[in-house]
Amino acid sequence: MATHYFTASSLDGYIATTEHSLDWLLTQDIDMEGPMAYPAFEKSIGALVMGSSTYEWVMRHEEGRWAYEQPTWVLSHRELAVPTGADVRVTSAAIPDVHAAMHEAAEGKDLWVVGGGDVAAQFADAGLLDEVWVQYAPVTLGGGAPLLPRRLDLDLIEVARNRSFLCGRYRVAGRSAGSTAP
Ligand SMILES: NC(=O)c1ccc[n+]([C@@H]2O[C@H](COP(=O)([O-])OP(=O)(O)OC[C@H]3O[C@@H](n4cnc5c(N)ncnc54)[C@H](OP(=O)(O)O)[C@@H]3O)[C@@H](O)[C@H]2O)c1
Repeated sequence: MATHYFTASSLDGYIATTEHSLDWLLTQDIDMEGPMAYPAFEKSIGALVMGSSTYEWVMRHEEGRWAYEQPTWVLSHRELAVPTGADVRVTSAAIPDVHAAMHEAAEGKDLWVVGGGDVAAQFADAGLLDEVWVQYAPVTLGGGAPLLPRRLDLDLIEVARNRSFLCGRYRVAGRSAGSTAP
C-alpha cells in the first residue's frame, strides 16, 4: 500500500493561482481514458487527505455536493461544515496519526494526498510519501500555491503525454513504495 501525491501543475510549479483559481487547468485538453489520467488512478485509492483550502475549493466547485466515495481526512485547525452523508473527517492530528487512520480505513488500497503542496511536504517530512504524480499543463503562472515546497529527491519511474499534458510519475528516493513505517 503506497501513499501518492497526485496533482496537476503549471510548468513553473504552481497548483493554483494566488487567488486559488484553477481556470488555467480546467480549460486544458486531456483524455480521461488516456495514460496516467485521474479515473484509473482513483480506482486504486482507499482514502484521501487534503488541506482546508483544497477542501473549500472542492466544495465551491462541486456546489456543496461531495465528490469522493472514499473516506477523506481534511486537515484544519478550524471547524468546517461537512456535507450530509459524506465520509469527511476534519482533523488537526499529527500526520503519522492521520496516515495510520487512513491506512486502516483504506482496506489495503493506496492513499492519495490530494494537496496542497505543503500537505504533501508534511507527509514527506514524516517519511510517509512514496510517490509524486504530476500532470504538467502547458501554462506558466508566475506565482501561486506551490507544487511541493521542500527539497525532495525523486526517481522518475514513468512518463507519458496525455494530449496537452506532460505526465510524470516519481518515486520518493530512499523510500520503497508500500512501506508503512517512517
Ligand atoms: N492543481 C491541482 O490539481 C490541485 C490539487 C490540489 C489542490 N489544488 C489547489 O491548490 C490550492 C492549495 O492551497 P494551499 O496551498 O492553501 O493548501 P491546502 O493544503 O489545501 O490548505 C492549507 C490549509 O490547510 C490547513 N492545514 C494544513 N496542514 C495542516 C495540519 N497539519 N494540521 C491542521 N491543519 C492543516 C491550514 O488551514 P486551517 O487550519 O486554517 O484550516 C492550512 O492553511 C487550493 O486552491 C487547491 O484548490 C490544486
